[in-house]
Amino acid sequence: MSLLTVYDESTPGTPLLTAQDAPTIARELAAIGVRFERWESPVTLADDADSDAVLAAYRPYLDRLMGESGAGTADVIRIDADTPNKPALRARFLSEHTHSEDEVRFFVRGEGSFILHVEGRVYDAHCTRGDLISVPTGIRHWFDAGENPDVTALRVFTDTTGWVAHYTGDPIAERFPARFAL
Ligand SMILES: [Fe+2]
Repeated sequence: MSLLTVYDESTPGTPLLTAQDAPTIARELAAIGVRFERWESPVTLADDADSDAVLAAYRPYLDRLMGESGAGTADVIRIDADTPNKPALRARFLSEHTHSEDEVRFFVRGEGSFILHVEGRVYDAHCTRGDLISVPTGIRHWFDAGENPDVTALRVFTDTTGWVAHYTGDPIAERFPARFAL
């Protein structure tokens, strides 16, 4: 289930707020410029649906989002037991970083946490099937899908060369591991 947990950056063990309902999560994240929506698929997709089927299923949502944001391309990424080099892949985004374009992800299946560091607070947005999150350019964040990731996600790009991690060097992510024991 979707879950937002908000902390003061100095107190990792003590949440200031937890929310499981989408309107509250969307409101809290909107306050820091992060877009969060729930998308209901108009069709039931098989877990092994190919990329074209996934893109077609969510095309109306994608067209709306891309029309509003000016993003030009979308693709499908899968990370599962067959993905090579999972530890290295996980490590790439496990430290605090920024990007020079919005990081837009929709969870087709599986789960993962975007953890955002904004104005002295840490927002752990644990996303699951049906969640759309857009992390704006320049926002400090990290991402974790756990040691055994099993995720299919849509990625939406304005400029595919912009999605490079610029590490901040702040070790804060070590104090705020993603919450998976929900
Ligand atoms: Fe990122």
